[in-house]
Amino acid sequence: MSRLLIVANRLPITVTATETGVEVQRSMGGLATGLMRPHEQSDGLWIGWSGAPDDLDAERQARLDEELAAMRLVNVPLSSDQVTQFYEGFSNGVLWPLFHYLLDQMPLHVSHWEGYVEANEAFADVVAAHYRPGDLIWVHDYQLLLLPGLLRDRLPGARIGFFLHIPFPSEELFRTLPARDRLLQGMLGADLVGFHTPAYLRHFATSLTDILGHSVEIDRVQLPGREVRLGVFPMGVDAASFAAMAADPAVEAEARTIRGDGSARILVGVDRLDYTKGIPRRLLAYERMLEIHPELRKRVRLVQVAVPSRTNVGAYQDFRALVDGLVGRINGAFGTPRWVPVHYIFRALSESELVALYRAADVMLVTPLRDGMNLVAKEFIASRVDGDGVLVLSEFAGASWELPEALQVNPYDVEGAAEVFYRALGMPREERRARLTPLRTRVQTFDVHRWVASFLEQLSELTPAGPRSGPAAGSVAVHRALAWRLVETESLLLLLDYDGTLVPFTPTPELARPDRELLALLRALAGRPDTEVHVVSGRPQNTLEEWLGELPVWLHAEHGFVSRDPETRQWVPAAELGGSWREPVLAILREITQRTPGSLVEIKAAALAWHYRMADQETGARRANELRLHLNQLLSNQPVEILAGNRVIEIRPYGVHKGRIVPPLTPERQAATAILAIGDDRTDEDLFGALPSDAITVRVGPGATRARFRLDGVAAVRRVLHSLVESGLAAVPDKR
Ligand code: UDP
Ligand code: G6P
Repeated sequence: MSRLLIVANRLPITVTATETGVEVQRSMGGLATGLMRPHEQSDGLWIGWSGAPDDLDAERQARLDEELAAMRLVNVPLSSDQVTQFYEGFSNGVLWPLFHYLLDQMPLHVSHWEGYVEANEAFADVVAAHYRPGDLIWVHDYQLLLLPGLLRDRLPGARIGFFLHIPFPSEELFRTLPARDRLLQGMLGADLVGFHTPAYLRHFATSLTDILGHSVEIDRVQLPGREVRLGVFPMGVDAASFAAMAADPAVEAEARTIRGDGSARILVGVDRLDYTKGIPRRLLAYERMLEIHPELRKRVRLVQVAVPSRTNVGAYQDFRALVDGLVGRINGAFGTPRWVPVHYIFRALSESELVALYRAADVMLVTPLRDGMNLVAKEFIASRVDGDGVLVLSEFAGASWELPEALQVNPYDVEGAAEVFYRALGMPREERRARLTPLRTRVQTFDVHRWVASFLEQLSELTPAGPRSGPAAGSVAVHRALAWRLVETESLLLLLDYDGTLVPFTPTPELARPDRELLALLRALAGRPDTEVHVVSGRPQNTLEEWLGELPVWLHAEHGFVSRDPETRQWVPAAELGGSWREPVLAILREITQRTPGSLVEIKAAALAWHYRMADQETGARRANELRLHLNQLLSNQPVEILAGNRVIEIRPYGVHKGRIVPPLTPERQAATAILAIGDDRTDEDLFGALPSDAITVRVGPGATRARFRLDGVAAVRRVLHSLVESGLAAVPDKR
């Protein structure tokens, strides 16, 4: 089993200096509370900042180190200047508000970038010092966006995952950041990048396309020499442990005490005191409800827990004053000697106090303006072992995507929210149960342990990027493997892609005609004794016929949709042509071609293709992404697939791919046949996948591949093919 290194800015405990020593408390926030138990149950390390001041005396420091080591925690010390710049300045002063769409909370001048870089470097040094080969490194959250890239430089072969706990904002917003390129490149140091929701992933993918010009597929992005996977992993809570706590008689008793004589129904809010959480508008909506429905006065109560957070950041100080003022205003206006409408708690609760409050609530108000996930909502659900209680949930919380049975609310709409709160208070028991039951099942099933397991499972299955991984490179390696195989076998089967493999890419497809050297080479190969040559291309049949039709080789056009043997020279299709999807797709392709200078549509017998090699790189990649999203929706029920090739998007009937041209080989023939397959893009991977494991499969150029070998370009491919012709087996005269 690999050891897990969790790397997050926060450790699950936070240390503060006191007169007599140091005080250690549980850290607040979803990341720390969520990952705490998975860490306890693993045998790995958690690397992060303890929060301890940098001027602890030696004795206190030693005691602290001992305490941390016992919990397998590793401190990354930050100086007070680093805390100001990295933690308060850039992470929480710039990235936090921007990623939550709250630009009004950002400083006019985006500064402290150097401090952010320096702290990420400090984390990288500590992680590298503790890393052992085979470890899985899992980096968390916006404070450490550069860390995966810095670790990739230091530990090229390591398996690195990254998870973002907050939203990834729309690309239009993200690109306002001066350091946008560096941040994206930092994240791409990981092998797997995870988000809570598909929308965050989509925003990230669009940013990669628009800002870095990468061509992104739904779940991956191809970089030179390696691939980064992207995934959606909605975080869960430790549902079983919340349920157990909630069923504890002491907690039940506490919940009864909070409810008192039952004369007032209880609404509950639990948040860090953060401007993203929507507390002021929640208070306004509550106030509005009391105005519109005076009969509720004295019969309802709002318990609002606000955990102090980031108190040195200016925006948080102003915010605290705003909330204090609103609470005072409502209590002043509506309170009586016997009734306080808002019960405000400005401190952290213990776990059992919190669960008792969840159990005491009639209505749980989770109304952030924007929130990556929001675990409080899920903790509330997990704690309601009595099967009762209403959750009001902001449509801007990541959790709302997974919890549609909650009463959804737009937190910006104060009037609307007041009505939703009122409706929640009056919801009949039957409806409350009907809504909560599926929520509970989901929260129990997709808990935090499953979240950790599914992320790590995917990460550990990925081949680590690094110099030792991947196919053997170079024509010498291919030549040697071929020589060995040819000694054992009687015949040779050559399966050769055309563009990017036998000829270099050209600005437009028509320019890639075969040169005389290539024609002579293919003819000579086909003339080798017991050698079958197949050219397997995505091009239409008429082009292959015109360019290669005179050669005694097999031709496969449109990725194997239609084939021609060298004897009869008849083109035979693999499946029925036609389909109602062609006309609408063609219209879309023509429209996108008009909007994308330099791109063109290719109409083939079975497929349609949109080429953007000649278009501006950034525009082309962006339009290609747009097109894929559009077509994915349009064609979801059609028997066609959408394939992203090398600067081309192809739409073709389902199930037709290069793999299907592999001629049937009996076990005897397979043992007696050496197979050499060479190709340069995704479509060739289908071919490699359909071949027996002893086939010599060769990927041309960079990119993740299932091939056993890699060559760096057309010249190297031709060298290998020439060596076959020249390797002592003289070409026999043309069979025709
Ligand atoms: N929490 C806590 N004590 C409190 C209030 C909150 O331990 O008094 C915890 C709560 O259990 C939850 C976390 O703080 O796990 C808040 O996570 P959430 O995802 O809701 O928001 P975040 O603070 O991460 O933005
Ligand atoms: C959110 C963030 C975490 C952060 C937590 C508490 O949950 O996603 O990364 O740790 O808030 O904030 P703090 O600044 O105290 O670490």
